[in-house]
Amino acid sequence: MFKIDDVVKRGVRAVTISASLLALAACQDDAVSQSTRDETAVTRAQTQFSQRVEGLLAEMTLEEKLGQLHQAAGGRSRNLNSRLTPEELDRVRAGAVGSYLHVAGAQPLAELQRVAVEESRLGIPLLFAMDVVHGYRTIFPVPIAMASTWDETDWQRAARISAEEASAAGLHWTFAPMIDIGRDPRWGRIVEGAGSDPYLGSRMAVAQVQGYQGESLAAGDTLLATAKHFGAYGVPTGGRDYGTAEIGERSLYEAYLPPFYAATRAGAGSMMTAFNDIDGVPSTSNEALIDGTLRARWAFDGLIVSDWNAIAELMNHGVAETRAAAGALALQAGVDMDMTSGIFVEELRQAIDADPALEADLDLAVGRILTAKERLGLFDDPMVYHQVQREQAELLAADHREAARAIAARSVVLLKNENAALPLELSEGRVAVIGALAADASTQLGSWRAQGRPEDVVSLLDGLREGAPEGVEIVYAAGADPLSDDLSGLEEAVALARSADRVVLVVGENFDMSGEARSRSDLFLPDSQRALASAILDTGQPVSVILVTGRPLAIPDIAARADAVLNAWMLGVEAGPALADIIYGETSPAGRLPVSFPRSTGAAPFTYSEYPGGRPADPDLARDTNRYMDQPITPLYGFGHGLSYSTFDYGALSGGVVQGEIRLAVDVTNSGDRAADEVVQLYMRDPVASVARPRIELRGFRRISLEPGASTTVHFTLSPAQAAVFQSPGVWQVEPGQLVFHVGGSSLYLASSVEVTIEDGFISDVPAAAIATRGETE
Ligand code: BGC
Repeated sequence: MFKIDDVVKRGVRAVTISASLLALAACQDDAVSQSTRDETAVTRAQTQFSQRVEGLLAEMTLEEKLGQLHQAAGGRSRNLNSRLTPEELDRVRAGAVGSYLHVAGAQPLAELQRVAVEESRLGIPLLFAMDVVHGYRTIFPVPIAMASTWDETDWQRAARISAEEASAAGLHWTFAPMIDIGRDPRWGRIVEGAGSDPYLGSRMAVAQVQGYQGESLAAGDTLLATAKHFGAYGVPTGGRDYGTAEIGERSLYEAYLPPFYAATRAGAGSMMTAFNDIDGVPSTSNEALIDGTLRARWAFDGLIVSDWNAIAELMNHGVAETRAAAGALALQAGVDMDMTSGIFVEELRQAIDADPALEADLDLAVGRILTAKERLGLFDDPMVYHQVQREQAELLAADHREAARAIAARSVVLLKNENAALPLELSEGRVAVIGALAADASTQLGSWRAQGRPEDVVSLLDGLREGAPEGVEIVYAAGADPLSDDLSGLEEAVALARSADRVVLVVGENFDMSGEARSRSDLFLPDSQRALASAILDTGQPVSVILVTGRPLAIPDIAARADAVLNAWMLGVEAGPALADIIYGETSPAGRLPVSFPRSTGAAPFTYSEYPGGRPADPDLARDTNRYMDQPITPLYGFGHGLSYSTFDYGALSGGVVQGEIRLAVDVTNSGDRAADEVVQLYMRDPVASVARPRIELRGFRRISLEPGASTTVHFTLSPAQAAVFQSPGVWQVEPGQLVFHVGGSSLYLASSVEVTIEDGFISDVPAAAIATRGETE
């Protein structure tokens, strides 16, 4: 631990940014660290802001500068604006606040902005922020569900609509997209991201940034996007939120950071640092990662915000003894804005008095915050976000709901379908809908619901009722609620199931069982849901299970015994109609898993793209291989899995290297009797390289729609740099030799493959998984 004086004396601020991350904590030698910092750190001398920003910097007092760095909570996330008191307005007049989060509303925020612009000395506008993660008032499926559409247009459209609504309600800035790769379903925040794969995650990151930020941030209907949580937040030890990431440097750069690189290339205006540490270095004070990788190597010039109170929590991590020391570490590392700890506005002055060199870091941080405000057009037209009529017209507009319904239907993943269980094509009869989650509108909003309201949601039950064909009667029994041990409703549910022709059983997790600080040690269904499922399956009736969840669950019993299993995740305001579209066969399901479903809790974490190892898993238990004794080696449902009401045939994958590009093509035919979508997935394997390479890695995908009997050719164009092997943060080696590409409908169903030869190696500086493959359909 360091006191502020020690920080200066021992040169801790001068940590090397070219040293390996692992060596970082040990690097406190003045001479070595100072010279390396000078080489690569982004310095004030190299940074020229606009004339307006430079002018303001020249005019601002130290207090005004520190005020810009402070982001205050205008309320709690479920009690917005509650802290906007007269005393708070005085702080704004004094220039002691740069931004508010957990605020909303065109009208209330107009007054706050007016005070900042008209009554503070320099008239610097405020930034208003909120976690608009999967919708503002029109709530879309939770992000892991949206990832399941495997379609960039959907991701972009949902983010665009979210931005249109939120900006109309006075907001400038969203803390989204959350692009943490998650491979451990115990981690509750897996619900907020794009799943387990860096390529899929990178594509979703780019589409969302483009959707939020639109063509121009100054447009008035766009939001500054925040890629979060920078570091390796998605890999906490034991799946426990906020825990240490114990990962090697190669995994960090090959698997966890590519979506962040992709977000910088898409122009993301801000990033948020992660709460946790990587091998003992908290991301909020990780200069090598923030100032080194993100800013110096990747040329990210946006605004970096800490997570909630994370600067103060550097003391809990045990890397700072005082608040001032914590502030100094975060500022030096490259954090510009302090979310709620108050340290930058209250104690940084003390740190700067002790180490005047910090002033240059301070000016950089202030300059970046003012630049973000400038990019948003706030200096020119601060009131553009406060038009009450626009707010009324935008929120929950009919076309927004329509998009939410379509995207929700495209998110649903059909895991199993036997005995022609789905679609339910009945012209008459009785369908029993069983399960409290079927009627739970609130759960469909998931984690981070912004201004979403349960009364806006069409529940699964209402959707199934309203969409039912004439002659089909829907009857309902709650059975059991996931949050309760009360099983007294089971008897009625069983009787109702027995009385029906078909049963739709809705089981899973309540919305509050996934999300922040919602890690679980058990991936099986909650007890009451298991009991309900087993009682209903015991009836011997034809049962289709609808899974409601924010994380992959271990459902071996259901998978074995139900006729059909449809993973609906949590689908947003149009959950019911979207489910009805699928259940009654209006639309064929085509969602694909962005993360695999384990057979048991003990099988997590897992990824399809692990290294093969020296003794790859073998089904034969007599051999000593990389597997468990007590369950099969495959996941219950693998990455990319998802069935359709139709069937698809793949031709041979063909192609090779042409003019330095890898060009591949495959014919795909809808061989069934329904119009349906297929997600064509391209995987790569580098069979022999200087280091072990993943078993297979996703390198392209394309969701296509085909009429029955129709065929199309899907073309994929890649760069050899997409096969580059990480050497060091800025050095990616493309090795000459063979690459094998596979194509198919999931990571477990690879229909055909082709070998490609890379003749010449070269060095790239781009994380391989962040590079987009061009996919085209003929
Ligand atoms: C979360 C962030 C979120 C912030 C503000 C934190 O607890 O980790 O993802 O943006 O709160 O609400």
